[in-house]
Parts: sequence; C-alpha cells; structure tokens
Amino acid sequence: MKNVLIISGHTDLSSSIANKTILDTLSKRLPKAEIVKLDELYPDFKIDVEAEQQKLLRADLIVLQFPIFWYSAPSILERWMEETFRHGFSHGSTGNKLKDKKLILSFTTGAPEEMYSHDGAMGYTLDEFLACFRATCRLTQMEYCGSIYTCGVSYGSRTTPELIENQKALSVEHAVRLIQLLETL
Ligand SMILES: Cc1cc2nc3c(=O)[nH]c(=O)nc-3n(C[C@H](O)[C@H](O)[C@H](O)COP(=O)(O)O)c2cc1C
Repeated sequence: MKNVLIISGHTDLSSSIANKTILDTLSKRLPKAEIVKLDELYPDFKIDVEAEQQKLLRADLIVLQFPIFWYSAPSILERWMEETFRHGFSHGSTGNKLKDKKLILSFTTGAPEEMYSHDGAMGYTLDEFLACFRATCRLTQMEYCGSIYTCGVSYGSRTTPELIENQKALSVEHAVRLIQLLETL
C-alpha cells in the first residue's frame, strides 16, 4: 500500500469510543501508516507547521479522521488545516506540494443518517456538509477520494455496557471499510 497519513482531529480521544476504536484498529491493521493524534500532540493548538508539512509531503494517501462537531470538523483539525495548508505550500501560484495526493474523509456522527436529509432534522445531506473539503481539494489539486462514515454513535446511545460494545463493533467495521477503500487507491 502507498504511504498513508492519518490525521486524527478528535479534540479529546480520552473521552472517545468511536474515533479511539477506529484509530486503535487502524494502528493494528495498518502498522506502516503514520497516525497523528492532534489532541495529544498539540493540546495548546500550537501546530508545528514545518513538521506537519513534512508529514504531508511523505504521504500519498491522507485520511482525515474526526467526529462531526457542529456539522463540520472539530476546532483542532480546522486549526491544523489553517496552519499547515499555507499559501505557497498547498495553493497559490507556486504552491503545489499537495498536488495529486489523495484525500479521504473518515468521520463519525452522533445523529442517525436519516436525519441528514432535506426533510430530516439537519436539513441538509452529509455530502452537502462536506462541500468545504471538496473545495479544498480542488484548490490544492488533491484528489478527493470520498468518505467512510458511521452515524448514530452518540453519547445518548452508549448508556449501557452492551450499547458501548455495539458502538465499538461498528467502529471496528468502519476501520475495515476504510482499509478496503485505501487498498483500492
Ligand atoms: C461539541 C460537539 C458537537 C457535535 N456536533 C454534532 C453535529 O453537528 N452533528 C452530529 O451528528 N453529531 C454531533 N456531535 C456528536 C459527535 O459527532 C459524536 O459524539 C462523535 O461522533 C462520537 O465519536 P467519539 O466516540 O469518537 O467521541 C457533536 C458532539 C460534540 C461534543
């Protein structure tokens, strides 16, 4: 498999079930992948731009792994992108360092998938909420290779040991689906 970089944008993996399980599974099954846990590396949000750009340069496949927070990526992942995707590096007349790299989104939501529709509680589809990532790929000349997601892994549905085990099982399945996609790229 090509060089895989997985950027975890969860703001607190110590309180996570879904993203933690996905990352643990990926770490076991893709031992060569580089996994970056932004919450552990940058609890103060002070991103080491040079170090993060070097990781991007080494990667062929870039996975953004995150829980949906307020219909988007969590703040620490937004910060990482704001800092790392700099004019002259990722975009601008001389910024082409991400050109032809492949971007994959891997995310979890608290709400069930049915709520993400024009008639549902969220009012928009998940794909519509992801437009900013597709636009980022367009500007930085990365290839957007789609998303792997798991819905309904909310705090409200992890109130018993059985429900927690169910969310963990869904998260392992999620990791397997992600690996299957990566193997095709
Ligand atoms: C600050 C915050 C905002 C959230 N916003 C959303 C949201 O907009 N849509 C949604 O479906 N779930 C939302 N959730 C639920 C998370 O997506 C859910 O808790 C997460 O995917 C579970 O993953 P974890 O076990 O790795 O934390 C939010 C949770 C938090 C804490």
